[in-house]
Amino acid sequence: MNTIVLDNTTRASGQAETPARVRVTQLRKSFQRHGGGGEVIPVNNISLDVAAHEMVVLLGPSGCGKTTLLRCIAGLETPERGEILINGQTVYSSPSGILLPPNKRPVSMVFQSYALWPHMTLFDNVAYPLQARNVPGRDIRQRVLDTLEVVGLTALAAQYPGQISGGQQQRVALARAVVSQTGVVLFDEPLSNVDARVREQLRLEIRRMQKALGFSGIYVTHDQNEAMAVADRIAVLNDGHMEQIGTPEEIYNLPDTTYVGSFIGSANIWKGTVRSMAADRIVVGTTLGDLVIDPRSELMTNAAPATPGAETRVLVRPESIAVHTAAPATAVNCIECVVDTRVFFGSSTEYLLIAGEERIRVWIPGISSVPERSTVWLTIDPGRLRLIAPSIVANADEGR
Ligand SMILES: Nc1ncnc2c1ncn2[C@@H]1O[C@H](COP(=O)(O)OP(=O)(O)OP(=O)(O)O)[C@@H](O)[C@H]1O
Ligand SMILES: [Mg+2]
Repeated sequence: MNTIVLDNTTRASGQAETPARVRVTQLRKSFQRHGGGGEVIPVNNISLDVAAHEMVVLLGPSGCGKTTLLRCIAGLETPERGEILINGQTVYSSPSGILLPPNKRPVSMVFQSYALWPHMTLFDNVAYPLQARNVPGRDIRQRVLDTLEVVGLTALAAQYPGQISGGQQQRVALARAVVSQTGVVLFDEPLSNVDARVREQLRLEIRRMQKALGFSGIYVTHDQNEAMAVADRIAVLNDGHMEQIGTPEEIYNLPDTTYVGSFIGSANIWKGTVRSMAADRIVVGTTLGDLVIDPRSELMTNAAPATPGAETRVLVRPESIAVHTAAPATAVNCIECVVDTRVFFGSSTEYLLIAGEERIRVWIPGISSVPERSTVWLTIDPGRLRLIAPSIVANADEGR
């Protein structure tokens, strides 16, 4: 079984010591839909701190409000309520009536469409923000060449955007965003127009570049792998609310809610009722029978509170379940199942197991060849189960 890594040393888990580069406080932005469609609230009381040198990813499904939040920070949308500070400066405050226009905010933005000037060379595209800020000409040349080197495009400086690939165009857009050293870079799905292989390479480069240049970033994506690859912390958004924020390890291993648990990675989530509680075991009754959970395990850190009789949810990742072809000696968290389907993925084999009404997903590392329709027994270590709460947005994830 995989070892759980809750690594708070290499990733910026807490952001308390350094002052925030970006501070969003109780921000709200709504839209009125045309034709009597009612009100949408894509940013509903969101608070968020981004520390110096930190990359925070806003992750959530289409329409949950990621772009709207980013545009509020950039000054492209006017919120109704709340406060935004960038580098210690208030750029928006509803109580004080402050609203700075986008060009007065110390941020740069990278869009999904690269938004390069087609009639300018790569050099001139990257130089443009410096010229707009009246940087002296002799400094511009050196800074543009240095930045083009960071993104590996020095040899193409004299080309025009139409003469280079999509991945290279996005590198130019990155260079243009970091050249003016605003200290804060906002990314809105910057890699969704490049093909899968280039995307994987570019996301590693963005992370390397962010660490090398030391800017703070807010990075919007709906792709959880991309989020994991570039983030110091991930903020999971759900219908205008922030459902949870934490390091990728915390979000994966310690989800607070069913929504976060099922949005990041794969999860088996069962409804249950707490039957009994002791210092070393919590018993939850589910449709699969009683499950024993070890409340002392690392996976129960900050878990949903349990009181006898309360309804709860139990989460287990597919890689945390063991499968046996003969009935094992242990009776703890042991469930008899039938193999419904088996799929070989190369690095692992996935089984879909059926137990009564439940379908259970299991990943076994490497090759495993238990035939479909045979009877098996699964076991789950009590230290691999986590209690979570239903999502904060009603019915957002029920019925999955
Ligand atoms: N100008 C607008 N007028 C009315 N509604 C809007 C406007 N802009 C956004 N919305 C609505 O606000 C909600 C959030 O939109 P937003 O673009 O922030 O989502 P998103 O999370 O970025 O989605 P995607 O992943 O598809 O880009 C959606 O329901 C959208 O239809
Ligand atoms: Mg968007």
